[in-house]
Amino acid sequence: MIEQFARDVLDGLQQYPKTLPSKYFYDKKGDELFQQIMELDEYYLTRCEYEIFRTHKASWLEMFANATEKFNLIEFGAGDGFKTKVLLKHFLDNGANFQYVPIDISGNVLKLLETSLGKEYPDLSVRCIQNDYFKALESMENGGSRNIVLFLGSNIGNFYDESAITFLTTLSQRLKPGDLVLIGFDLMKDPDVILKAYNDDKGVTAAFNFNLFDRINTELEGNFDLTKFRHCPVYDPLTGTTSSYLVSTEQQTIEIMDTAIHFEAWEAIHTEISQKYNLKEITRLAETSGFSVKQNFFDGRRYFVNSVWQR
Ligand SMILES: C[S@@+](CC[C@H](N)C(=O)[O-])C[C@H]1O[C@@H](n2cnc3c(N)ncnc32)[C@H](O)[C@@H]1O
Repeated sequence: MIEQFARDVLDGLQQYPKTLPSKYFYDKKGDELFQQIMELDEYYLTRCEYEIFRTHKASWLEMFANATEKFNLIEFGAGDGFKTKVLLKHFLDNGANFQYVPIDISGNVLKLLETSLGKEYPDLSVRCIQNDYFKALESMENGGSRNIVLFLGSNIGNFYDESAITFLTTLSQRLKPGDLVLIGFDLMKDPDVILKAYNDDKGVTAAFNFNLFDRINTELEGNFDLTKFRHCPVYDPLTGTTSSYLVSTEQQTIEIMDTAIHFEAWEAIHTEISQKYNLKEITRLAETSGFSVKQNFFDGRRYFVNSVWQR
């Protein structure tokens, strides 16, 4: 794992422009910071999706559960399961026959999720998988029970279009006709509202972005001086892409495991994209990757949509 982290970091920082993969945000500290982000006033995404879950949990149970046949509820990038627990509780209360399969790259968050599920829902059948999305997809079985796949929190928006299509196409090939996916998409809206979600007043999203440097410093013998960089998110309303950057405020050279990395003044590292969508784009994504859109579910402000796709 560390070797892969080191390779990805050095590859990304030796390119021009420089990049770091966003999946490395998530260690124990990153998981805690993301939980704080979800509670921020500016971070509307979690509250919108939570509202949709509370409103539509009963319709979703009807869609997902086929009489008494068992189904797998598979979640990519499950995190702390805050919204999913609304479904889990409703499904269990109504005697649904299913197994919950959360997949996440962070062993820390999965362990916390497993412990909390054991306490809150002792009768729930759970199988946790710690892996990268793409590796987890490779080992997904497409025989047996019906699969219902969750991909929430607009995690899909962290993929560039080409990777999103590769991920979704591979997913559709792993599923059987009639299987469903429920994907959360953050919709295009007032650019000021979007930008604030990635640049809150308390600086929690900044600390989350800087956690990449903290991890490099502690795990890869790096010597980033965090005071010599700035957190800088940008939203482009033309493409719907929010990009997060860490920008070097001066010319400097840092070292990672004895490898020198040079920065010009105001040179940036790209750390994450968070794509915003409209319904036309969502339909294009579904149809390009082998799905059809079955139904869209919105929050009251139409800030966010959970789109149910059929294989
Ligand atoms: C933005 S959080 C969202 C969590 C949850 N889905 C929600 O909606 O609240 C993203 C989650 O996906 C996980 N993750 C990020 N990149 C991943 C990857 N490449 N493979 C597997 N999990 C990943 C993170 O560890 C984190 O728990």
